[in-house]
Amino acid sequence: MSTDGKSAAPSSAPSPEAPDDWIIDQAWADYTAEDHAVWNTLYERQAELLPARACTPFLKGLDALDLHRGGIPEFARINDELKALTGWQVVAVPGLVPDEVFFHLLANRRFPAGRFIRRPDQLDYLQEPDVFHDVFGHVPMLTDPTFADYMAAYGRGGERAMALGRLKNLARLYWYTVEFGLIEEQGRLRLLGAGIVSSLSESIFALEDPSPNRLGFDLERIMRTPYRIDDFQQVYFVTPSLQALLDATLADFSGLYERLAGACDIALDVILPTDKVFRRGTQAYALRRAHDGACTD
Ligand code: PHE
Ligand code: FE
Repeated sequence: MSTDGKSAAPSSAPSPEAPDDWIIDQAWADYTAEDHAVWNTLYERQAELLPARACTPFLKGLDALDLHRGGIPEFARINDELKALTGWQVVAVPGLVPDEVFFHLLANRRFPAGRFIRRPDQLDYLQEPDVFHDVFGHVPMLTDPTFADYMAAYGRGGERAMALGRLKNLARLYWYTVEFGLIEEQGRLRLLGAGIVSSLSESIFALEDPSPNRLGFDLERIMRTPYRIDDFQQVYFVTPSLQALLDATLADFSGLYERLAGACDIALDVILPTDKVFRRGTQAYALRRAHDGACTD
């Protein structure tokens, strides 16, 4: 499914006006012992790291959905609890879905999740979101009422941004909050984004590595900041609270989008005078990677 507003529409795509057509059966009984073992390995690695790093709503969500139980969870089981808590449901989709389908599902409190799981030789990196990323990474946050409202509002916002031609900017908001956001809790930085909490190496990098900049959440600034999909982030944004995130996105974005149409992007290593700096990064990691890339070219 689409994590960031990018998507691929297969040529024989059903009508985007029929988002339900994209929903498939999870076919939970068809997972192999190897599939469940991959989930368990990934789960156990993150369970070690996250109690000291992930934000409280995420950790509470893991408990509420009883994801500790082992094996790839059956969506029907977690949906009972999720529905009662916030009205959200997880639905299985074949892979990336078109943007309009993604937004429509979110607006209706349905979170599209890939049903497949990565192979044992792909534990650390894979391009397309699988069931571990989607369910372990995203779904615990959907048990939080404020975050649940934010995600549904984002779905409606996506439909509007498409109509106004500003999806590029809105996708950056999703990226720097839902996927790679940090959050402040009692004066400490914690992991919020699904792309981080579902990754062993980025769970450490995002909080502890001296390389990336860590800057305060600023809606317009984020919408002017591109992102990299193929490596650790060069900049992370810190949300003061989930309520602050929801409040910042309640206003109508039309005026903001008009300003953004004439604004240029902000380079990933730049710190503006107006930025709230939690930690100025060395950029050592990004520079090393750029150098390696130049050598192997
Ligand atoms: N307020 C946004 C708009 O007017 C919609 C939105 C809400 C976008 C929440 C993102 C998150 O378009
Ligand atoms: Fe995602």
